[in-house]
Amino acid sequence: MQDYQKFLAEILIPEDLLQKRISELAALISQDYKQKNLHLVCILRGGVMFLTDLMRQLTIPHTVDFMAVSSYGAGARSSTGQVRITLDLKENIQGRDVLVVEDIVDSGYTIASVLDMLATRRPASLRVCTLLDKAERREIEVPIDYCGFVIPDKFVFGYGLDIDEYYRNLTFIGTVDPKRYKAIE
Ligand code: PRP
Repeated sequence: MQDYQKFLAEILIPEDLLQKRISELAALISQDYKQKNLHLVCILRGGVMFLTDLMRQLTIPHTVDFMAVSSYGAGARSSTGQVRITLDLKENIQGRDVLVVEDIVDSGYTIASVLDMLATRRPASLRVCTLLDKAERREIEVPIDYCGFVIPDKFVFGYGLDIDEYYRNLTFIGTVDPKRYKAIE
């Protein structure tokens, strides 16, 4: 894999801005869920960095679980945009106040499917917290209760988001210059 500096077009959201916004979201969530039974559900893998920083800033007791989903077919989504569970939650969510934590909402199909699936398990409440919202790409309407940043339709990577599975570890969100990126063979 190339050094990311070779194809980084710009730092879209630097670390300090990311962390400041995450603190604001955590304060809001801590207030809103004060009297509730907050259970965070992180969608693997992109949401992990955001989840761990968000958790550290929450000031109320909460629990956490993980799930992974993938689209039907290799790389392509089905006509209905449905996704399937590849790793299910460990715990029952019935009666719990579930907050789904995502790194990005793009077409909206992933979060829409996740919400449909989780709703059938009768949580007390079900809401969405996403770090990034690529709103102009939306193909299906989805409710977003907490959003870090609305971003333009650019290829973003870093802070949980990958480019060909690499660079999820970066502490900022960058954009890719496709002319300078050499895809892995
Ligand atoms: C990304 C992201 C969301 C989804 C958003 O996951 O983490 O789950 O795509 O896209 P959508 O709104 O168009 O459905 P990805 O499938 O890349 O998996 P990853 O998190 O393991 O990288």
